[in-house]
Amino acid sequence: MNIKALKGFKDILPDEVAAWQFLEKKARDIFERFGFAEIRVPILEKTELFARSIGAATDIVEKEMYSFTDRNGDSITMRPEGTASVIRAFIEHGMHVQKPVNRLYTFGPMFRHERPQKGRLRQFHQLSVEIIGSDNPGTDAELMVMACQLLEGFGLAASLEINSLGCPDCRPEFKKELVAFLEGKSGSLCEDCERRKDTNPLRVLDCKSQNCQEQYKDAPVILDHLCQGCADHFQEVTKKLDLLSIPFTINSFMVRGLDYYTRTTFELLTDDLGAQSAVGAGGRYDGLVKQLGGQDLPGIGFAMGIERLVLLLHQKTSMPVYEGIDLFIAALGDDASKKAFEFMHGLRAGGLKVLMDHEGRSLKSQMKQAARFGAAFTLILGEDELAKGEGVLRTMETGDQESITISQDASKVSDLIKQKISSFDL
Ligand code: HAM
Repeated sequence: MNIKALKGFKDILPDEVAAWQFLEKKARDIFERFGFAEIRVPILEKTELFARSIGAATDIVEKEMYSFTDRNGDSITMRPEGTASVIRAFIEHGMHVQKPVNRLYTFGPMFRHERPQKGRLRQFHQLSVEIIGSDNPGTDAELMVMACQLLEGFGLAASLEINSLGCPDCRPEFKKELVAFLEGKSGSLCEDCERRKDTNPLRVLDCKSQNCQEQYKDAPVILDHLCQGCADHFQEVTKKLDLLSIPFTINSFMVRGLDYYTRTTFELLTDDLGAQSAVGAGGRYDGLVKQLGGQDLPGIGFAMGIERLVLLLHQKTSMPVYEGIDLFIAALGDDASKKAFEFMHGLRAGGLKVLMDHEGRSLKSQMKQAARFGAAFTLILGEDELAKGEGVLRTMETGDQESITISQDASKVSDLIKQKISSFDL
Protein backbone atom coordinates (compact mmCIF):
# COMPACT_ATOMS: atom_id res chain seq x y z
CA MET A 1 0.00 0.00 0.00
CA ASN A 2 1.20 3.50 -0.79
CA ILE A 3 2.24 5.61 2.14
CA LYS A 4 0.16 8.78 2.34
CA ALA A 5 0.73 12.02 4.26
CA LEU A 6 -0.56 12.13 7.83
CA LYS A 7 -4.14 13.25 8.37
CA GLY A 8 -4.23 17.04 8.69
CA PHE A 9 -0.77 17.40 7.08
CA LYS A 10 -0.80 18.81 3.58
CA ASP A 11 1.64 18.97 0.69
CA ILE A 12 1.88 22.39 -0.89
CA LEU A 13 2.19 21.63 -4.58
CA PRO A 14 4.02 23.82 -7.11
CA ASP A 15 0.89 25.40 -8.57
CA GLU A 16 -0.07 26.55 -5.07
CA VAL A 17 3.38 27.84 -4.14
CA ALA A 18 2.95 31.01 -6.21
CA ALA A 19 0.17 32.10 -3.84
CA TRP A 20 2.38 31.37 -0.81
CA GLN A 21 5.25 33.35 -2.27
CA PHE A 22 2.94 36.21 -3.15
CA LEU A 23 1.65 36.34 0.44
CA GLU A 24 5.12 36.14 1.95
CA LYS A 25 6.56 38.79 -0.30
CA LYS A 26 3.67 41.18 0.25
CA ALA A 27 3.79 40.56 4.01
CA ARG A 28 7.56 41.20 4.17
CA ASP A 29 7.11 44.51 2.31
CA ILE A 30 4.46 45.66 4.76
CA PHE A 31 6.25 44.38 7.88
CA GLU A 32 9.37 46.24 6.87
CA ARG A 33 7.37 49.41 6.25
CA PHE A 34 6.24 49.17 9.88
CA GLY A 35 9.81 48.67 11.13
CA PHE A 36 9.72 44.92 11.80
CA ALA A 37 12.74 42.62 11.52
CA GLU A 38 12.52 38.91 10.75
CA ILE A 39 13.36 36.27 13.32
CA ARG A 40 13.46 32.50 12.72
CA VAL A 41 12.97 30.27 15.72
CA PRO A 42 13.10 26.47 16.11
CA ILE A 43 10.11 24.21 15.63
CA LEU A 44 10.92 22.12 18.70
CA GLU A 45 10.93 23.63 22.17
CA LYS A 46 10.79 22.37 25.72
CA THR A 47 7.17 21.47 26.53
CA GLU A 48 7.36 23.65 29.62
CA LEU A 49 7.64 26.78 27.46
CA PHE A 50 4.13 26.29 26.11
CA ALA A 51 2.61 25.07 29.37
CA ARG A 52 3.92 28.22 31.07
CA SER A 53 2.88 30.70 28.38
CA ILE A 54 -0.23 29.39 26.60
CA GLY A 55 -1.53 27.98 29.90
CA ALA A 56 -1.78 24.44 31.27
CA ALA A 57 -5.60 24.52 31.27
CA THR A 58 -6.03 25.56 27.62
CA ASP A 59 -7.27 23.19 24.90
CA ILE A 60 -3.97 23.63 23.06
CA VAL A 61 -1.82 22.45 25.98
CA GLU A 62 -4.30 19.93 27.38
CA LYS A 63 -5.11 18.06 24.22
CA GLU A 64 -3.61 19.43 21.03
CA MET A 65 0.16 19.49 21.40
CA TYR A 66 2.51 17.12 19.62
CA SER A 67 4.70 16.32 22.60
CA PHE A 68 7.16 13.52 23.05
CA THR A 69 10.07 12.45 25.18
CA ASP A 70 13.33 12.70 23.27
CA ARG A 71 16.32 10.39 23.53
CA ASN A 72 17.62 12.29 26.55
CA GLY A 73 14.33 11.86 28.38
CA ASP A 74 13.35 15.54 27.97
CA SER A 75 9.77 16.50 27.19
CA ILE A 76 9.75 18.25 23.82
CA THR A 77 6.89 19.84 21.89
CA MET A 78 6.43 20.80 18.25
CA ARG A 79 5.41 24.43 18.59
CA PRO A 80 1.65 24.97 18.44
CA GLU A 81 2.13 28.73 17.93
CA GLY A 82 4.98 31.21 17.51
CA THR A 83 4.66 33.82 20.26
CA ALA A 84 6.13 31.73 23.09
CA SER A 85 9.22 30.86 21.03
CA VAL A 86 9.79 34.44 19.87
CA ILE A 87 9.56 35.72 23.44
CA ARG A 88 11.87 32.94 24.62
CA ALA A 89 14.41 33.96 21.97
CA PHE A 90 13.97 37.65 22.81
CA ILE A 91 14.83 36.95 26.45
CA GLU A 92 17.56 34.40 25.72
CA HIS A 93 19.46 36.78 23.44
CA GLY A 94 18.88 39.88 25.58
CA MET A 95 17.46 41.54 22.49
CA HIS A 96 16.19 44.57 24.36
CA VAL A 97 19.68 45.27 25.76
CA GLN A 98 22.04 44.53 22.86
CA LYS A 99 20.11 46.44 20.30
CA PRO A 100 16.60 47.68 20.77
CA VAL A 101 15.02 45.25 18.32
CA ASN A 102 11.50 45.00 19.57
CA ARG A 103 9.43 44.53 16.42
CA LEU A 104 9.74 40.99 15.15
CA TYR A 105 8.01 38.93 12.51
CA THR A 106 8.26 35.28 11.59
CA PHE A 107 6.76 32.73 9.18
CA GLY A 108 6.54 29.03 9.71
CA PRO A 109 4.73 25.80 10.45
CA MET A 110 2.77 25.22 13.67
CA PHE A 111 1.35 21.93 14.93
CA ARG A 112 -1.94 21.30 16.71
CA HIS A 113 -3.70 17.95 16.95
CA GLU A 114 -7.14 19.33 16.10
CA ARG A 115 -9.92 17.69 14.11
CA PRO A 116 -9.00 18.53 10.51
CA GLN A 117 -11.53 20.28 8.30
CA LYS A 118 -11.57 23.01 5.64
CA GLY A 119 -9.14 25.68 6.84
CA ARG A 120 -8.12 23.63 9.89
CA LEU A 121 -5.02 21.48 9.69
CA ARG A 122 -2.71 19.74 12.11
CA GLN A 123 0.33 21.28 10.47
CA PHE A 124 -0.53 24.80 9.42
CA HIS A 125 1.52 27.92 8.81
CA GLN A 126 1.36 31.32 10.39
CA LEU A 127 2.80 34.69 9.64
CA SER A 128 3.09 36.36 12.98
CA VAL A 129 4.35 39.57 14.50
CA GLU A 130 5.23 40.71 17.98
CA ILE A 131 6.01 44.15 19.45
CA ILE A 132 7.76 44.00 22.80
CA GLY A 133 8.27 46.86 25.21
CA SER A 134 5.36 49.23 24.64
CA ASP A 135 2.13 49.36 26.62
CA ASN A 136 0.86 52.36 24.74
CA PRO A 137 -2.63 51.94 23.23
CA GLY A 138 -1.22 53.53 20.07
CA THR A 139 0.81 50.34 19.58
CA ASP A 140 -2.35 48.23 19.73
CA ALA A 141 -4.03 50.41 17.12
CA GLU A 142 -0.93 50.50 14.93
CA LEU A 143 -0.76 46.72 14.93
CA MET A 144 -4.42 46.35 13.99
CA VAL A 145 -3.95 48.90 11.24
CA MET A 146 -1.04 46.83 9.96
CA ALA A 147 -3.20 43.67 10.03
CA CYS A 148 -5.84 45.47 7.96
CA GLN A 149 -3.21 46.78 5.53
CA LEU A 150 -1.84 43.26 5.12
CA LEU A 151 -5.26 41.95 4.13
CA GLU A 152 -5.74 44.89 1.80
CA GLY A 153 -2.32 44.21 0.27
CA PHE A 154 -3.36 40.59 -0.32
CA GLY A 155 -6.54 41.84 -1.99
CA LEU A 156 -8.64 40.33 0.82
CA ALA A 157 -11.07 41.66 3.37
CA ALA A 158 -12.13 40.63 6.87
CA SER A 159 -13.94 42.31 9.71
CA LEU A 160 -12.11 43.38 12.82
CA GLU A 161 -13.55 42.48 16.22
CA ILE A 162 -11.93 43.72 19.40
CA ASN A 163 -12.27 43.20 23.12
CA SER A 164 -10.37 43.74 26.34
CA LEU A 165 -9.64 40.90 28.73
CA GLY A 166 -8.52 43.19 31.55
CA CYS A 167 -5.45 42.59 33.67
CA PRO A 168 -4.48 40.64 36.82
CA ASP A 169 -6.04 43.49 38.85
CA CYS A 170 -9.53 43.37 37.38
CA ARG A 171 -9.91 39.98 35.70
CA PRO A 172 -10.07 37.86 38.90
CA GLU A 173 -13.12 39.85 40.07
CA PHE A 174 -14.81 39.32 36.74
CA LYS A 175 -13.90 35.64 36.79
CA LYS A 176 -15.48 35.28 40.23
CA GLU A 177 -18.70 36.83 39.01
CA LEU A 178 -18.71 34.70 35.90
CA VAL A 179 -18.14 31.52 37.89
CA ALA A 180 -21.03 32.43 40.21
CA PHE A 181 -23.22 33.01 37.15
CA LEU A 182 -22.14 29.69 35.63
CA GLU A 183 -22.87 27.82 38.87
CA GLY A 184 -26.47 28.95 38.42
CA LYS A 185 -26.49 27.33 34.98
CA SER A 186 -24.98 24.05 36.12
CA GLY A 187 -26.53 21.02 34.46
CA SER A 188 -27.84 22.95 31.46
CA LEU A 189 -24.54 23.56 29.65
CA CYS A 190 -22.67 21.45 27.10
CA GLU A 191 -20.07 18.97 28.32
CA ASP A 192 -17.17 21.26 27.37
CA CYS A 193 -18.63 24.25 29.21
CA GLU A 194 -19.44 22.17 32.29
CA ARG A 195 -15.76 21.23 32.40
CA ARG A 196 -14.43 24.65 31.47
CA LYS A 197 -16.44 26.50 34.08
CA ASP A 198 -14.09 24.88 36.60
CA THR A 199 -10.83 24.79 34.64
CA ASN A 200 -10.93 27.88 32.41
CA PRO A 201 -14.25 29.72 32.94
CA LEU A 202 -13.66 32.57 30.45
CA ARG A 203 -13.48 30.08 27.60
CA VAL A 204 -17.16 29.16 28.01
CA LEU A 205 -18.10 32.51 26.48
CA ASP A 206 -16.95 31.60 22.98
CA CYS A 207 -18.64 28.18 23.01
CA LYS A 208 -20.09 27.35 19.60
CA SER A 209 -23.22 25.68 21.02
CA GLN A 210 -26.35 27.70 20.38
CA ASN A 211 -27.92 26.42 23.58
CA CYS A 212 -24.95 27.64 25.63
CA GLN A 213 -24.91 31.00 23.86
CA GLU A 214 -28.62 31.41 24.72
CA GLN A 215 -27.76 30.87 28.37
CA TYR A 216 -24.91 33.37 28.32
CA LYS A 217 -27.08 36.21 27.03
CA ASP A 218 -27.25 37.72 30.51
CA ALA A 219 -23.76 36.65 31.57
CA PRO A 220 -21.55 39.33 33.17
CA VAL A 221 -19.63 41.34 30.57
CA ILE A 222 -15.89 41.80 31.00
CA LEU A 223 -15.92 45.33 29.61
CA ASP A 224 -18.13 46.36 32.54
CA HIS A 225 -15.54 45.00 34.97
CA LEU A 226 -12.35 46.62 33.74
CA CYS A 227 -10.25 48.62 36.20
CA GLN A 228 -9.71 52.30 35.36
CA GLY A 229 -6.34 51.64 33.70
CA CYS A 230 -7.74 48.91 31.42
CA ALA A 231 -10.89 50.88 30.61
CA ASP A 232 -8.84 53.96 29.66
CA HIS A 233 -6.50 51.82 27.58
CA PHE A 234 -9.38 50.23 25.70
CA GLN A 235 -11.06 53.55 25.07
CA GLU A 236 -7.84 55.02 23.75
CA VAL A 237 -7.41 52.05 21.36
CA THR A 238 -10.90 52.57 19.94
CA LYS A 239 -10.25 56.32 19.57
CA LYS A 240 -7.04 55.67 17.63
CA LEU A 241 -8.83 53.21 15.32
CA ASP A 242 -11.56 55.79 14.77
CA LEU A 243 -8.94 58.41 14.01
CA LEU A 244 -7.74 56.29 11.09
CA SER A 245 -11.31 55.31 10.11
CA ILE A 246 -10.61 51.62 10.70
CA PRO A 247 -13.99 49.88 11.05
CA PHE A 248 -14.32 47.49 14.00
CA THR A 249 -16.93 45.95 16.26
CA ILE A 250 -16.60 45.28 19.96
CA ASN A 251 -17.23 41.65 20.88
CA SER A 252 -17.19 41.30 24.64
CA PHE A 253 -17.50 37.49 24.32
CA MET A 254 -14.19 37.12 22.48
CA VAL A 255 -11.89 35.37 24.94
CA ARG A 256 -9.16 33.68 22.84
CA GLY A 257 -7.73 30.23 23.43
CA LEU A 258 -4.39 31.23 24.92
CA ASP A 259 -4.02 32.32 28.53
CA TYR A 260 -1.26 34.88 28.09
CA TYR A 261 -3.54 37.66 26.87
CA THR A 262 -4.18 40.81 28.87
CA ARG A 263 -6.18 43.88 27.86
CA THR A 264 -6.69 44.21 24.07
CA THR A 265 -7.53 41.14 22.00
CA PHE A 266 -8.70 41.11 18.40
CA GLU A 267 -9.73 38.80 15.59
CA LEU A 268 -10.07 39.21 11.85
CA LEU A 269 -13.11 37.29 10.72
CA THR A 270 -14.61 36.26 7.41
CA ASP A 271 -17.72 34.38 6.30
CA ASP A 272 -15.89 32.84 3.35
CA LEU A 273 -14.12 29.99 5.15
CA GLY A 274 -17.01 27.89 6.38
CA ALA A 275 -16.75 26.99 10.05
CA GLN A 276 -13.26 28.49 10.42
CA SER A 277 -13.96 32.17 10.48
CA ALA A 278 -10.69 33.57 11.89
CA VAL A 279 -8.11 34.59 9.31
CA GLY A 280 -5.99 36.16 12.00
CA ALA A 281 -6.01 36.94 15.67
CA GLY A 282 -3.89 38.40 18.41
CA GLY A 283 -3.69 40.58 21.42
CA ARG A 284 -1.69 42.08 24.22
CA TYR A 285 0.35 39.94 26.63
CA ASP A 286 1.77 42.33 29.19
CA GLY A 287 2.80 39.66 31.69
CA LEU A 288 4.35 37.11 29.34
CA VAL A 289 7.96 38.28 29.10
CA LYS A 290 8.28 38.32 32.89
CA GLN A 291 6.43 35.03 33.21
CA LEU A 292 9.02 33.42 30.94
CA GLY A 293 11.89 34.76 33.02
CA GLY A 294 12.58 38.08 31.30
CA GLN A 295 12.16 41.66 32.43
CA ASP A 296 8.75 43.09 33.15
CA LEU A 297 8.06 44.16 29.57
CA PRO A 298 4.67 44.45 27.90
CA GLY A 299 3.98 42.99 24.48
CA ILE A 300 1.40 42.63 21.76
CA GLY A 301 1.16 40.64 18.53
CA PHE A 302 -0.98 38.72 16.12
CA ALA A 303 -0.81 35.82 13.70
CA MET A 304 -2.58 34.98 10.46
CA GLY A 305 -3.15 31.47 9.14
CA ILE A 306 -1.46 31.22 5.75
CA GLU A 307 -3.57 28.23 4.56
CA ARG A 308 -6.69 30.27 5.31
CA LEU A 309 -5.31 33.24 3.37
CA VAL A 310 -4.49 30.92 0.45
CA LEU A 311 -8.04 29.51 0.50
CA LEU A 312 -9.39 33.04 0.35
CA LEU A 313 -7.03 33.95 -2.48
CA HIS A 314 -8.16 30.89 -4.44
CA GLN A 315 -11.72 32.14 -4.23
CA LYS A 316 -10.65 35.24 -6.14
CA THR A 317 -10.07 35.38 -9.85
CA SER A 318 -6.96 37.53 -9.62
CA MET A 319 -4.98 34.69 -8.02
CA PRO A 320 -1.29 34.78 -8.86
CA VAL A 321 -0.44 31.73 -10.95
CA TYR A 322 2.71 29.68 -11.41
CA GLU A 323 5.03 31.66 -13.64
CA GLY A 324 6.50 29.58 -16.41
CA ILE A 325 10.03 29.43 -17.68
CA ASP A 326 11.54 31.97 -20.06
CA LEU A 327 12.83 29.59 -22.66
CA PHE A 328 12.59 25.96 -23.66
CA ILE A 329 15.24 24.63 -26.04
CA ALA A 330 13.92 22.04 -28.43
CA ALA A 331 16.97 20.34 -29.90
CA LEU A 332 16.72 17.83 -32.76
CA GLY A 333 19.54 15.35 -33.14
CA ASP A 334 22.69 14.62 -31.18
CA ASP A 335 24.77 17.60 -32.34
CA ALA A 336 21.96 20.02 -31.65
CA SER A 337 21.42 18.45 -28.23
CA LYS A 338 25.08 18.89 -27.40
CA LYS A 339 24.98 22.52 -28.49
CA ALA A 340 21.70 23.08 -26.59
CA PHE A 341 23.20 21.65 -23.40
CA GLU A 342 26.15 24.01 -23.59
CA PHE A 343 23.98 26.94 -24.62
CA MET A 344 21.48 26.35 -21.81
CA HIS A 345 24.32 26.70 -19.31
CA GLY A 346 25.30 30.11 -20.76
CA LEU A 347 21.69 31.32 -20.91
CA ARG A 348 21.09 30.41 -17.27
CA ALA A 349 24.28 32.23 -16.32
CA GLY A 350 22.76 35.19 -18.18
CA GLY A 351 19.80 35.07 -15.78
CA LEU A 352 17.18 33.23 -17.83
CA LYS A 353 14.96 30.38 -16.64
CA VAL A 354 15.76 27.70 -19.22
CA LEU A 355 14.93 24.02 -19.68
CA MET A 356 15.60 21.52 -22.46
CA ASP A 357 14.66 17.98 -23.36
CA HIS A 358 17.32 15.34 -22.73
CA GLU A 359 15.36 12.41 -24.13
CA GLY A 360 15.66 13.02 -27.87
CA ARG A 361 11.89 13.41 -28.30
CA SER A 362 10.19 14.54 -31.50
CA LEU A 363 9.72 18.24 -32.20
CA LYS A 364 5.97 17.88 -31.60
CA SER A 365 6.45 16.33 -28.21
CA GLN A 366 9.13 18.89 -27.25
CA MET A 367 6.76 21.72 -28.20
CA LYS A 368 4.13 20.16 -25.94
CA GLN A 369 6.67 20.07 -23.14
CA ALA A 370 7.53 23.73 -23.73
CA ALA A 371 3.85 24.60 -23.39
CA ARG A 372 3.54 22.51 -20.23
CA PHE A 373 6.41 24.40 -18.63
CA GLY A 374 4.70 27.67 -19.58
CA ALA A 375 7.70 28.75 -21.68
CA ALA A 376 7.49 32.28 -23.04
CA PHE A 377 9.80 31.29 -25.93
CA THR A 378 11.08 28.12 -27.51
CA LEU A 379 14.40 27.99 -29.28
CA ILE A 380 14.31 25.28 -31.94
CA LEU A 381 17.73 23.91 -32.83
CA GLY A 382 17.72 21.66 -35.88
CA GLU A 383 20.82 20.20 -37.55
CA ASP A 384 20.40 22.34 -40.71
CA GLU A 385 19.90 25.64 -38.87
CA LEU A 386 22.78 24.82 -36.57
CA ALA A 387 25.10 24.27 -39.52
CA LYS A 388 24.36 27.90 -40.50
CA GLY A 389 24.90 29.08 -36.92
CA GLU A 390 21.19 29.78 -36.54
CA GLY A 391 18.20 28.75 -34.49
CA VAL A 392 14.48 29.48 -34.66
CA LEU A 393 12.99 31.50 -31.85
CA ARG A 394 9.25 30.98 -31.38
CA THR A 395 7.13 33.32 -29.28
CA MET A 396 4.77 30.84 -27.67
CA GLU A 397 1.82 33.14 -27.14
CA THR A 398 1.60 34.41 -30.73
CA GLY A 399 3.27 31.54 -32.62
CA ASP A 400 5.57 34.07 -34.38
CA GLN A 401 8.92 32.60 -35.41
CA GLU A 402 12.19 34.25 -36.41
CA SER A 403 15.71 33.11 -37.17
CA ILE A 404 18.32 34.22 -34.72
CA THR A 405 22.07 33.89 -34.75
CA ILE A 406 23.44 31.39 -32.29
CA SER A 407 26.79 32.92 -31.61
CA GLN A 408 29.39 31.22 -29.46
CA ASP A 409 28.52 33.66 -26.73
CA ALA A 410 25.14 32.82 -25.19
CA SER A 411 24.96 36.20 -23.48
CA LYS A 412 23.84 37.93 -26.70
CA VAL A 413 20.90 35.55 -27.00
CA SER A 414 19.99 35.86 -23.33
CA ASP A 415 20.05 39.67 -23.69
CA LEU A 416 17.84 39.45 -26.75
CA ILE A 417 15.31 37.23 -24.98
CA LYS A 418 15.32 39.39 -21.88
CA GLN A 419 14.68 42.43 -24.05
CA LYS A 420 11.78 40.66 -25.74
CA ILE A 421 10.33 39.53 -22.41
CA SER A 422 10.43 43.06 -21.05
CA SER A 423 8.77 44.41 -24.17
CA PHE A 424 5.66 42.29 -23.90
CA ASP A 425 3.31 41.86 -21.04
CA LEU A 426 3.34 38.18 -20.24
P1 HAM B 1 -4.36 31.77 17.27
O1 HAM B 1 -5.67 32.48 17.31
O2 HAM B 1 -4.28 30.48 17.97
O3 HAM B 1 -3.28 32.78 17.81
O4 HAM B 1 -3.94 31.53 15.76
C1 HAM B 1 -3.83 32.60 14.86
C2 HAM B 1 -4.35 32.21 13.49
O5 HAM B 1 -3.72 31.00 13.05
C3 HAM B 1 -5.85 31.88 13.46
O6 HAM B 1 -6.63 33.05 13.37
C4 HAM B 1 -5.94 31.04 12.20
O7 HAM B 1 -5.98 31.86 11.06
C5 HAM B 1 -4.61 30.28 12.22
N1 HAM B 1 -4.81 28.91 12.75
C6 HAM B 1 -4.87 28.54 14.04
N2 HAM B 1 -5.06 27.21 14.14
C7 HAM B 1 -5.12 26.73 12.88
C8 HAM B 1 -5.29 25.42 12.30
N3 HAM B 1 -5.41 24.33 13.06
N4 HAM B 1 -5.29 25.30 10.96
C9 HAM B 1 -5.14 26.40 10.16
N5 HAM B 1 -4.97 27.65 10.65
C10 HAM B 1 -4.96 27.82 11.98
C11 HAM B 1 -1.95 32.49 17.95
O8 HAM B 1 -1.43 31.50 17.53
C12 HAM B 1 -1.18 33.59 18.65
N6 HAM B 1 0.23 33.15 18.77
C13 HAM B 1 -1.28 34.89 17.89
C14 HAM B 1 -0.53 35.99 18.56
C15 HAM B 1 0.68 36.47 18.22
N7 HAM B 1 -0.92 36.63 19.64
C16 HAM B 1 0.01 37.49 19.98
N8 HAM B 1 0.99 37.40 19.11
